[in-house]
Amino acid sequence: MNAVATPLYPEDRTSAPKTAAADPLITCRSLNKVYKTRSGDAVDALVDLNFDIAKGEFISVVGPSGCGKSTLLKIMAGLLDYTSGDIAISGKAVTGPSPQNGLVFQQPNLLPWKTIAENVYFPVEIQQGRRAVNMTLVRELMSMVGLKGFEGKYPHELSGGMQQRAAIVRALVQDPAVLLMDEPFGALDAMTRDMMNVELLKIWSKHRKTVIFITHSIPEAVFLSDRVIAMTPRPGEIAEIIPIDLPRPRPLDVVNTPEFGAYAKRLRRLLNANEDIAG
Ligand SMILES: Nc1ncnc2c1ncn2[C@@H]1O[C@H](COP(=O)(O)OP(=O)(O)OP(=O)(O)O)[C@@H](O)[C@H]1O
Ligand SMILES: [Mg+2]
Repeated sequence: MNAVATPLYPEDRTSAPKTAAADPLITCRSLNKVYKTRSGDAVDALVDLNFDIAKGEFISVVGPSGCGKSTLLKIMAGLLDYTSGDIAISGKAVTGPSPQNGLVFQQPNLLPWKTIAENVYFPVEIQQGRRAVNMTLVRELMSMVGLKGFEGKYPHELSGGMQQRAAIVRALVQDPAVLLMDEPFGALDAMTRDMMNVELLKIWSKHRKTVIFITHSIPEAVFLSDRVIAMTPRPGEIAEIIPIDLPRPRPLDVVNTPEFGAYAKRLRRLLNANEDIAG
């Protein structure tokens, strides 16, 4: 599927697409999710979400705890049913898990009895057999995220940041069209997190994945994204979708520029305003 797709953006692109393409990779229309609790109550988690995402875009989703970010990601991943509306990836309605999605969660969830290398190719191995594993890609990705030489180690021999890098490699080894990430760096210390952000952008610009990245961190969202989807408190609606028009590649010290500060302030105001309404 993405092996035959024509890249939408040239390899050397330095700035992001401002809006979704006319032919978007992901379309979401009037999406609603109502959870039914055991006691029979209905919990409105997502209300009337509408957005398009172009191939190759880096999109972050920010919003207060409980606003439905993970719910949205699980729906996109085909792990959770939605109540009404439409969501499609590559023109196909999302009806269940698909190998076109790579998933990364807050915890790396590596299998402790397998080595790092075995962990990263395990999903491809069980779905398609060992021969289908692209070992060249495994080596390239491991090296890119600084895990070269750790292939034969076990997860407990690696730091939290290294384990999370392995989890990202595991998602990418499947060559997914879309990388769905739910607070992947939330458990890491600030310095490691900065480093991981830079690495993620390197991977993104090299491998041209479409990324949906959930975070609680406004600076992280601004630093990484082409556009940021800001959500209201529960029930989660889209407050605004903000294009981040900062040039790429983005060095870490872009965070010290007035333009960066203005985006962060705008998002903070937006999220606080909605918090006040909710309160
Ligand atoms: N299985 C479930 N049954 C009932 N309600 C649920 C279920 N899962 C989530 N919810 C509710 O749906 C809402 C959205 O939850 P979700 O986990 O998507 O929020 P979130 O934005 O990811 O929060 P956080 O930032 O804390 O991770 C919350 O109010 C939550 O209590
Ligand atoms: Mg969540």
